[in-house]
Amino acid sequence: MALTGPAIRPSDNPLVRLQDDLERQARQRRTGARFPPGDTSRAALRPVDLNRRPLTLLLGAYERYGPVFSLRMLKADILFALGPQANHEILVSNASNFLWREGFRDLIPLLGDGLLTIDGAFHRTSRKIMLPAFHRERIAGALALMDDEIEAAVAGWRPGDRLDLYDWTRHLALRIAMRALFGFDPDRSQDDLDAAAEFEHALGFYGHSFFGQMLRGPLTPWRRMRTARQRLDALIFGEIARRRRTGERGEDLLSLLLDAEDEDGNSLSDAHVRDEVMTLMFAGHDTTTATVCFLVYELARAPYELALLHAERRMLGDGTPSFEQLAGGALPRLDMALDETLRLWPPAWIGPRRSVEATTVAGVHVPGDTFINYVSWASHRLPDVWEDPHAFVPERFSEANRKKIPKGAYVPFGGGSRTCIGMRFGQLEIKAIMARILRDFDLALEPGWKLHVSQTPTLGPKGGLPVIVQAAA
Ligand code: HEM
Repeated sequence: MALTGPAIRPSDNPLVRLQDDLERQARQRRTGARFPPGDTSRAALRPVDLNRRPLTLLLGAYERYGPVFSLRMLKADILFALGPQANHEILVSNASNFLWREGFRDLIPLLGDGLLTIDGAFHRTSRKIMLPAFHRERIAGALALMDDEIEAAVAGWRPGDRLDLYDWTRHLALRIAMRALFGFDPDRSQDDLDAAAEFEHALGFYGHSFFGQMLRGPLTPWRRMRTARQRLDALIFGEIARRRRTGERGEDLLSLLLDAEDEDGNSLSDAHVRDEVMTLMFAGHDTTTATVCFLVYELARAPYELALLHAERRMLGDGTPSFEQLAGGALPRLDMALDETLRLWPPAWIGPRRSVEATTVAGVHVPGDTFINYVSWASHRLPDVWEDPHAFVPERFSEANRKKIPKGAYVPFGGGSRTCIGMRFGQLEIKAIMARILRDFDLALEPGWKLHVSQTPTLGPKGGLPVIVQAAA
């Protein structure tokens, strides 16, 4: 068992990283590496376009060049792969040829060396340590705590209230993640730290363009991210120290991480425990927050679907649905609406990787040592795979229709041996939140409000999601 993480971290400076990429590509070209076709003319604004209109850019390139193409970003050619076959190869059948660490390197200044940013033996060992916390009975056991938190969060809602659902869900989801996954008591923090707000500040950095992310110094996005990180670090290191001092343990992830030992008795350093906790707190709340918001957004525009959801919720009575009901298909319309929301708005919309050896993806040659992204968001909207791809049609995920979805076409949780570790936890949490809202309420979009999507780095409604609370019809 390998409990030692990577010795080297990529530079924090985007310019140094760009320089490295350019030197790497110059070397590749000298040795005759062939890149897939694509938009490789110089276009200074392409990175801005990718930031502002990723779907338009990527679906247009797919139409012109096919499933794997190059886009030149500030002199470096980055590869993109769309569609069922490419997804399946990158995630499952040829996954070992694609590294995560270099792909996700932009997240390292915030997350450090956690599950998302490590590979190989260290990743396998770390995942194995944490897996027991995601077994079915542990997730089932977390439902009571989820229900407590959800009840407290809706307690103040009154018809006519206006609220920012994005902010509301972020606070709720983070409290659930902190309590259920790490046994943190969010109310114990002495200095009134608002962890959800700190995450929002930290993640806001990734909503800035490459140029914005390059800036350093006071009042820059970088400084705001670092300050928020320091505050979150103080919370996590404080809890690690308290647990080590008191010996307090539970069935949570933090206990598993603190007690993990290899055969020589080595344990994980505090820094590595912090990195795993930070990674799971981030991945464990940001994605569920976005999904609840996009689901509410779609339902608010689909009264027929919403009525079906209310009808099936009423069948379960006034009590909180059990784990067996939520996870076992007692709310099939909600299951379908959730799957369809994750098709249209997969929060973890892009999976950045670096190839190890030269290979082919969907029949297209891909050089070794090259950046390549699979993009679920664009793959889920390909017109040759999905009929009427931009429409919200939960029926696509009925039992009969689901069978017709090609392998690799639908990948909101990734795939293969690195499929999202929190998938079942996240699905349960979202359904528990929705089941509670549907029991008593309807959420209408604020009149005149229009969705703009941000990527921070997960998809989300830019500036929040203003809704008006109404009594359920
Ligand atoms: C709707 C909810 C969620 C969605 C859509 C989602 C999506 C994803 C996706 C797409 C990946 C793979 C990324 C890639 O292939 O590049 C992933 C990985 C991961 N997710 Fe989630 N996730 C969700 C909820 C959660 C939750 C609740 C947790 C933690 C409790 C979590 C923790 C992780 C971790 C740690 C990884 C990395 C796994 C590994 O590399 O072994 N996720 N997630």
